[in-house]
Amino acid sequence: MMLAGSAFRSMGLPRMAASVGQRSFAAATQMQKFAIYRYDPEKSARPFMQEYDIDLKATGPMILDALIKVKDEVDPTLTFRRSCREGICGSCAMNINGKNGLACLIYIEPDAKPIEIQPLPHSYVVKDLVPDLTNFYNQYKSIEPWLKRKEEKQAGEKEYYQSHEDRLKLDGMYECILCASCMTSCPSYWWNPEYYLGPAVLMQAYRWIADSRDQYTEERLAWVNDTMKLYRCHGIMNCTNCCPKGLDPAKAIVELKAQVAATYTDGWEKMKAKEIENNKGRESGMMYM
Ligand code: SF4
Ligand code: SF4
Ligand code: FES
Repeated sequence: MMLAGSAFRSMGLPRMAASVGQRSFAAATQMQKFAIYRYDPEKSARPFMQEYDIDLKATGPMILDALIKVKDEVDPTLTFRRSCREGICGSCAMNINGKNGLACLIYIEPDAKPIEIQPLPHSYVVKDLVPDLTNFYNQYKSIEPWLKRKEEKQAGEKEYYQSHEDRLKLDGMYECILCASCMTSCPSYWWNPEYYLGPAVLMQAYRWIADSRDQYTEERLAWVNDTMKLYRCHGIMNCTNCCPKGLDPAKAIVELKAQVAATYTDGWEKMKAKEIENNKGRESGMMYM
């Protein structure tokens, strides 16, 4: 016992001394610069980058934590969207050091250079880090992202049956949180945002086409079969590379194009023309505003 006790002391004391020493030499602060895009249309015509020094020792580990620190303690005028802080709501999507992603899921990597934070690229900016996503949401509405049936079930009938295999076909698509990271990283979408539906919207169009319970598969295919809506995708893959949920919209678009090619009939054009006549706002996504 003596031996164990003395071994403990002889090994323990220096260890204690080292930890005391470490504590006394450890930096009390770890300052990091953040360069953040600022734009307030009511105050200035031009956007600019503003630098903030934040102590990482007094901040949570994520980019969103640093933004909240700035807003709470340094500059309450800084504006950004956030809600869930766990990668579910999609509202904190922004461009961090040149890559789109969710501020709440991206760790702060300490750097001698400022960490640059900008709004989603090629978007109209409402204020600071808040992009105007109206066009994106209208496009999303235009693909009618809900279950459509020709034979609706009667009151009291059970829910629509879907086999396990059919349900699996929706994996990798239904998880999309509509954060718009992929849309705003797609060069084709940058050039034609009014016409090209973009990766997230096309993947959601395909999510309903692939759903065995939906009875408007052909009409949905006819709707997206368009030079501008679908065929602006050139497989550049920026979308898949930046998706914070690990989804693969580029693959969904390839599958969508393959299904269009395999099932196309001349009747589609008439079908589409009739839909545009009956539902005039659908093309622009404005039909339910
Ligand atoms: S694969 Fe298609 S949707 Fe994705 S970034 Fe490229 S062009 Fe855009
Ligand atoms: S596919 Fe990914 S990046 Fe695109 S909107 Fe959905 S979650 Fe965001
Ligand atoms: S705050 Fe909801 S996804 Fe980041």
